[in-house]
Amino acid sequence: MNISGRTVLISGAAAGIGRATAVALARKGAARIVLVDIDRPGLEQTARLVGGAGAKGVVQVVDVTDGPALQTLFEGAFAEGGIDIVFNNAGILSGPPAFPDTPLARIRQVVAINFTAVIEATWHAIRLMKAAGKGGVIINTSSTGGLNPYLSDAPYAATKAGVLMYSRSCGPLKESDGIRVNAVCPGVTNTPILAKTGGDRVAEWLEPLLQQIEILQPEDIAAAVIGLIEDDDVSGEYVVVQNQRKDA
Ligand SMILES: NC(=O)c1ccc[n+]([C@@H]2O[C@H](COP(=O)([O-])OP(=O)(O)OC[C@H]3O[C@@H](n4cnc5c(N)ncnc54)[C@H](O)[C@@H]3O)[C@@H](O)[C@H]2O)c1
Repeated sequence: MNISGRTVLISGAAAGIGRATAVALARKGAARIVLVDIDRPGLEQTARLVGGAGAKGVVQVVDVTDGPALQTLFEGAFAEGGIDIVFNNAGILSGPPAFPDTPLARIRQVVAINFTAVIEATWHAIRLMKAAGKGGVIINTSSTGGLNPYLSDAPYAATKAGVLMYSRSCGPLKESDGIRVNAVCPGVTNTPILAKTGGDRVAEWLEPLLQQIEILQPEDIAAAVIGLIEDDDVSGEYVVVQNQRKDA
């Protein structure tokens, strides 16, 4: 899909990968980007950056775990001129204490944001894209943490593996409806989420890994998302953005 002139909806757009992708899409000529998050000041900053890059940023403060609000968001966004590209990207880590000491309430939150909300948002997008009859592109944020067992945050790993299989399972929608659903699997990326691994600091289990790898920048993930949008052949697939080892 040629991004120029397109309309986009991005969740988790107030920071990190969502913000970088919004700005990258604006630079690619996207016309209108609906920016979704629970962090209003962060969204307003992203909207300013998107505006500076030539697109109209629309701030929508919505908790993606609020089912009725999510439905209203999608129906409203499609009613106002349609949406061509959806990037379901909001996500959280469990944070301390590491699994299996994670409180159950936090595990429920991780599942609700990272998994259930992605299932629902993708479902809304597919339904509305089908009704509009113009096809579309949906990208869901998984993680390299969803590809391999990961005891320190097993619930997170499980949600990201689930997002991956859901996105892959939607692959045949390209043939039937012109809707391409894919996933992106970032490696360790320099965003505010890393400081939340240990509460308000980097977790002890992550420190040694950070010594060994080259950290990715959010712009690296944005470039992978743009690749998935622009390649009209990919559907039901995923792209892994891997960290290089420092000694490689
Ligand atoms: N940074 C990494 O190393 C890394 C690696 C792999 C995958 N990811 C995934 O990338 C995605 C983006 O994360 P990031 O690294 O940019 O982190 P981030 O913390 O900078 O951004 C996540 C955003 O999601 C928002 N969010 C959280 N709960 C929400 C809710 N209920 N409703 C709406 N918005 C909500 C936050 O406010 C935040 O702005 C996440 O799904 C994350 O799991 C990140």
